[in-house]
Amino acid sequence: MLTSLHRIIYVSRSLLRGDEDQVAVELRRILAVSRRNNASEGLTGALLLGHGSFAQVLEGPMGAVEHAFERIQDDPRHADLVVVEVGAVAARAFPDWSMAFAGAAAAGVAPRVRAVLDQVAASSHATAAESVLGLLDGLIRREAEWAMAH
Ligand SMILES: Cc1cc2nc3c(=O)[nH]c(=O)nc-3n(C[C@H](O)[C@H](O)[C@H](O)COP(=O)(O)O)c2cc1C
Repeated sequence: MLTSLHRIIYVSRSLLRGDEDQVAVELRRILAVSRRNNASEGLTGALLLGHGSFAQVLEGPMGAVEHAFERIQDDPRHADLVVVEVGAVAARAFPDWSMAFAGAAAAGVAPRVRAVLDQVAASSHATAAESVLGLLDGLIRREAEWAMAH
């Protein structure tokens, strides 16, 4: 039977506090749990942290996406979640990643994250969703290329 593929894209405000190392430790915890759960539930996606905000793409079978998102929504490590896209998609954007991560330390990323937040503030959700996908796709491809070259 064909299970329809669902995708949710949201942005949220990070409540991770402390210095760079403390944030990195908490992020590693989030990613470890996410990768374990997502792998066993057929979920893939990507997460970005930059400019004090998270942006996440989560994709997979509808029920699994909904269940995971319920947990994520209740997580006290972020707030003010805004869903910019939800619904059926034809294909996964991040088929090879149980949860890819892009830190936005790279130069030029902060303005693009700010642009996404401006689009959300202007209720241009479809544009924001496109921006998040483009941003994450570029960052993750760049990190994968870097990893292959080193
Ligand atoms: C920004 C953010 C993204 C998250 N993404 C995921 C995810 O993709 N999958 C997941 O299972 N949990 C994710 N979590 C963690 C969940 O909120 C929750 O802590 C976790 O699913 C609980 O799993 P457990 O019951 O196995 O401990 C995320 C949390 C945050 C703050």
